[in-house]
Amino acid sequence: MKSYLTIVTLCFVLVIVVFVGHHLDTPGRADRERSTLLGGGSGVGDRVAAIGQINVAVAKEESSADETTSVEVAAAASAAVDGKQVYNAGCVACHGAGIAGAPRVGDTGAWTDRIAAGLDTLVAHAIDGFQGSQGMMPAKGGNPSLSDEEVRAVVEYMVAESQ
Ligand code: HEC
Repeated sequence: MKSYLTIVTLCFVLVIVVFVGHHLDTPGRADRERSTLLGGGSGVGDRVAAIGQINVAVAKEESSADETTSVEVAAAASAAVDGKQVYNAGCVACHGAGIAGAPRVGDTGAWTDRIAAGLDTLVAHAIDGFQGSQGMMPAKGGNPSLSDEEVRAVVEYMVAESQ
C-alpha cells in the first residue's frame, strides 16, 4: 500500500512539474513562436505574399502572352489546314468512289454544275449539310469537330481536283 501511495504521489508530482514547467515557459515561448511564425525567419508572411503576387503577375503575363499566341496559332492553323489530309480522313469515304450519290472527286462531269454555283455555295453546303437530287450530304461530312476553315480547305481541294 505504501509503495502504491509513493507511485501515485510521484506521478502527481511529475504531472505538476510538467504542468508548471510548461506554463512557466509559456510567455517567452509564445513570443518566440509567434515571431518564428510571422517573422522573416520563418518566411510565412513572405511566402503567403509571394504566392499571391507571383501568381497574379504570372497570370497577367500569361494571359496577355496567350492572346498573342492563340491569335498566331489560329492564323497559322487556318493557313496550315491541309485540305487533302482532312479529305482523306473522312470525306473520301463517300467522295472517293461516289458512294450514296456523292460526286466523286476527279469526276469533272459530276462537278461542273456544282463548281458553277460558286465556291461559297459548295462550302456552305458542306458545312451545313445539303439534300440534293443525288443524295444527302451530311453537315461537315458527319464530323462536327471539323472547323469551318477545315471544311473550306477540303472543298477547295476537292474542287481543284475535279475541274
Ligand atoms: C456519307 C457520305 C458523305 C460524306 C462522308 C461526305 N459527303 Fe459530301 N456529299 C455527299 C453526297 C451524297 C453529296 C451530293 C448531294 C446531292 O447533290 O444530291 C455530297 C455533296 C458534297 C458537295 C457538293 C455540294 C453542292 O452544293 O453540290 C461538297 C462540296 C461536299 N459534299 C463536301 C464534302 C466534304 C468537305 C466532306 C468531308 C468533310 C464530305 N463532303 C463528306 C455525301 C457525303
